[in-house]
Amino acid sequence: MSTDTFTLTDNQTGASWTFPVVAGTQGPDAIDIRTLYAETGYLTLDPGFSSTASCASAITFIDGDKGILQYRGYDIRDLAEHATFLEVAYALLYGDLPNLEEKRKFEKDITHHTMVHEQIHSFFRGFRRDAHPMAVMCGVVGALSAFYHDSLDIRDSRQREISAHRLIAKIPTLAAMSLKYMLGQPFVYPRNDLNYAENFLRMCFSVPAEDYRASAAMARAMDKILILHADHEQNASTSTVRLAGSSQANPFACIASGIASLWGPAHGGANQAVLNMLQEIGHVKNISTFLAKAKDKDDPFRLMGFGHRVYKNYDPRAAVLKSSCDAVLDELGVADPLLDLARELERIALEDEYFIDRKLFPNVDFYSGIILKALGFPSEMFTVLFAVARTVGWISQWKEMVEQPDHRIGRPRQVYIGQTCRPVLPLAERPQRKPQAIRQQEG
Ligand code: ACO
Repeated sequence: MSTDTFTLTDNQTGASWTFPVVAGTQGPDAIDIRTLYAETGYLTLDPGFSSTASCASAITFIDGDKGILQYRGYDIRDLAEHATFLEVAYALLYGDLPNLEEKRKFEKDITHHTMVHEQIHSFFRGFRRDAHPMAVMCGVVGALSAFYHDSLDIRDSRQREISAHRLIAKIPTLAAMSLKYMLGQPFVYPRNDLNYAENFLRMCFSVPAEDYRASAAMARAMDKILILHADHEQNASTSTVRLAGSSQANPFACIASGIASLWGPAHGGANQAVLNMLQEIGHVKNISTFLAKAKDKDDPFRLMGFGHRVYKNYDPRAAVLKSSCDAVLDELGVADPLLDLARELERIALEDEYFIDRKLFPNVDFYSGIILKALGFPSEMFTVLFAVARTVGWISQWKEMVEQPDHRIGRPRQVYIGQTCRPVLPLAERPQRKPQAIRQQEG
């Protein structure tokens, strides 16, 4: 893969070192600094990983400036328009969209695993009813490794595949169970004659007294949301999954770590935060007050659903969702004043110098919450739905990493800025100080 080299010169000593440059098939090349420390004695410092490629991957490509997102070379708009979520899942896992025969077999394999061990029902009952469903998901998905011992050997390719299929198949069942548990309703078993989105919606909204059948528009909207969230190269949660997996942890534990990372409001938790924010703004006349708060550096408030580490032009997923939003709400016959508020907020923010200068555009979370609300989901479930979709990306990235011959445990270094070596004084000789809380307040 090396096509070029990069030479680094130490200005103080004049010494220089040459490193190979690794070229990708698209996107920026990378300086391969694996031997930097050994050769130079220097580390690199990149706390938010803005300039660090943590791996070479053939799964997802993003060009943030051009607003491009491709899974396995397929454009996200093309996939959202012409493929199903399970076809996309197949492509992420195996490299290409399936042909008819592969599609049928994959759908059968996934359907075969949709039920969860009956004992997992008891496991759920250990949670408080008012637990956030993401808290429940972190626990229950991690616990799958206590139920499926026969697919934990990560050196066995068949076991890796079975774990991947189990996770893709069972995650909607567990997500629906976390909703039912929160609502105090009985769990609904999967139905294997329905497609992935229909089955998921039914498990969420059926009750024993009344069966639920999603309309074609609802199932398609759900499927589209799953496609748009399925993968996003080395984001925080995916990097978490890879790092956990690099120590050879089992795939269920790795996906649980991804769910934990996704939960944060700066990542997957943003879709719930967007809806909460729109509700808090309440009316178009209050937009200017909230925009002023977002721009005030002394105020921690940020405009949720705006900005992205990689997309500095527009988020192509937001563009697809924005255009679907109208269609979905029309077909569902839902008139949501929050959508009007969201549109107006977007319009005003996009004309505002603060947002223009910083290249802050609506991200995927800005519109997904409105569609999910229209489908009937409470806002606590939004991040769970993101986790359902992203499980496919996480497990594909995990599988790719485990199958790369040169993969090693991930172990970043640091620049140490703490105390240098000092003696441990006897208790009576240690200095008197104000309590920690007061020192923190005083800065
Ligand atoms: N509202 C107001 N100001 C913002 C926002 C926002 N949503 N996002 C960034 N900024 C400002 C920052 O204050 C900073 O301003 P400064 O240069 O004057 O200091 C500048 O824009 C750059 O912001 P960074 O924090 O450096 O950008 P970063 O790449 O680290 O953060 C992030 C990206 C976390 C997504 C951020 O934009 C954010 O917090 N957005 C709101 C939360 C959100 O919507 N998250 C979902 C992300 S998409 C996803 O996970 C699917």
